[in-house]
Amino acid sequence: MAQEHNLAFLKRVPLLASLSEAQLETLAASTVRRNFAKGRTIVAEGDSSQALYYLLSGRAKVQRTDAEGKEVILAVLGAGEFFGEMSLIDDEPRSASVVTLSSCDFLAIGKESFTELMMASKEICMAVMRGLVVRLREADRKIETLALLDVYGRVARVLLDFSEDIDGEKVVPMKVPRQEIAKMIGASREMVSRVMKGLELDGFIVPLGNGRLALRDKIRSYLH
Ligand code: CMP
Repeated sequence: MAQEHNLAFLKRVPLLASLSEAQLETLAASTVRRNFAKGRTIVAEGDSSQALYYLLSGRAKVQRTDAEGKEVILAVLGAGEFFGEMSLIDDEPRSASVVTLSSCDFLAIGKESFTELMMASKEICMAVMRGLVVRLREADRKIETLALLDVYGRVARVLLDFSEDIDGEKVVPMKVPRQEIAKMIGASREMVSRVMKGLELDGFIVPLGNGRLALRDKIRSYLH
């Protein structure tokens, strides 16, 4: 019964769209669907890998922590994205932790059957490679941001990355805590608060309530 349930979910996962019914059935047997509340660790940096994960809903942050407990956020993942593929491919420990930023529904797909499927399906290999390339492009962009932009530019970059086009306006549709922004750009929370206040006073960002923000076009001037 649980397996049939998983099968129905797997059929809707774009990453697995190329698989045959028989391959999906094999995968369903080693797949569990789970829900974690906000603030839970799905994958812990340094652990050995047992599974690949696919986010069905919610948001999760990818982070690394140094010996003193200082954290840096490498990425924020959303519905339709997978994670946990790196250690599955190179058999090294988990490269980072993945922690839920909201309630998250996700699939945990068993390592062995997924590895077998990568061997069997060119399409799955390509989909995983495409995912890795997207991440490399993002990482390149982040290096550029950190190396070339001042703290205003870095905050502007994060806000634009979180924004969506709503009724012709760029809107950050949810509250992004200043502490989280600080961990993404290597600045203190106090510095981020100061920059956000400055951006608001100068009319680059406009609070819309509930932590939502409208971004004015001129905020892009900080990216040069
Ligand atoms: P893995 O190393 O198995 O476990 C941690 C996961 O975090 C990793 O696989 C990737 O799926 C994900 N991850 C690591 N670094 C990044 C990054 N820079 N951007 C997005 N996801 C990442």
